[in-house]
Amino acid sequence: MAIKKVGVLGLGTMGHGIAQVAAASGFEVIATDATDEFMKKGLARIEKNLGRLVEKEKIDAAKRDEILGRIKGGGVKDFGDADLIVEAVTEAIEVKKKVFGLLNDVAKPGAILASNTSSISITLLSSVVKEPENFVGMHFFNPVPVMKLVEIISGLQTSADAAQVATEFAQSLGKTTIAVKDSAGFAVNRLLIPMINEAFCALDEGVASAEEIDQAMQLGCNHPMGPLTLADFVGLDVTLNALSVLYNDLGSDKYAPSQLLRKYVEAGRLGRKTGRGVYDYSK
Ligand code: 3HC
Repeated sequence: MAIKKVGVLGLGTMGHGIAQVAAASGFEVIATDATDEFMKKGLARIEKNLGRLVEKEKIDAAKRDEILGRIKGGGVKDFGDADLIVEAVTEAIEVKKKVFGLLNDVAKPGAILASNTSSISITLLSSVVKEPENFVGMHFFNPVPVMKLVEIISGLQTSADAAQVATEFAQSLGKTTIAVKDSAGFAVNRLLIPMINEAFCALDEGVASAEEIDQAMQLGCNHPMGPLTLADFVGLDVTLNALSVLYNDLGSDKYAPSQLLRKYVEAGRLGRKTGRGVYDYSK
């Protein structure tokens, strides 16, 4: 199946990046979010990102305008001619189920529906759509324009053809794909999230300061960001949520969330997006 038009549901941290890279790779994009205000914010973020590329002389103004011209904001009702729709709404089962329920009345037969979920079962989400064989997981990483990987997750009912279309689409965005089983945390978060959790445990036990724990992994292991900085970047709520999925689905105490991580989330210190997480971003 040739993909020409891509729908992006949710223009937050992940969705706006997905819309941007799809348009930059030549696809027509229709995008929406829960409210007009969120949608405008997401589209403005894309414009700002592309503006930065112009400033850095990576693209010229004409290219920026061409890319922006391929992205249209609209409502779910406008997704009827999309060949592939990527969902990147709030990481909550009920919200995602509701959104895919809406798509049932709109998406054309044969359209590939993909979820960018970082932790929810693809098989479970596919149970609410009309064509579960055309449902697949496409897990992008933040920041989407920079990170080279996309995990392609096949649920119990995903067809080989749908996984292939999603794989080729991700590759046409310049991404490298890996095929991953529909299992808690997929591959990346299965490894990354326990490491971040362990950093919170170490901080809680006074093994070292937050800055030193981050330096340990940056300078000792060449990670681009230390685990606590990365947690603030990803969102402490998202991290705790992913950890809870690992804990509940895999049933091992080794995934038990750090008490300190829980406390930060309870306090509303969710990371960069709230101005404070492990570190203070308010200034
Ligand atoms: N959007 C677009 N481009 C961005 C960007 C953004 N939000 N942030 C940074 N960049 C670009 C910069 O423009 C720059 O591009 P250039 O080299 O062409 O000029 C390049 O990335 C490097 O940026 P900076 O020089 O500003 O800063 P750094 O060198 O510190 O890199 C980083 C920033 C790319 C974010 C780097 O710190 C990094 O790779 N961090 C780790 C990110 C990571 O692990 N992401 C995965 C999170 S887990 C996840 O997403 C899964 C989820 O399910 C939890």
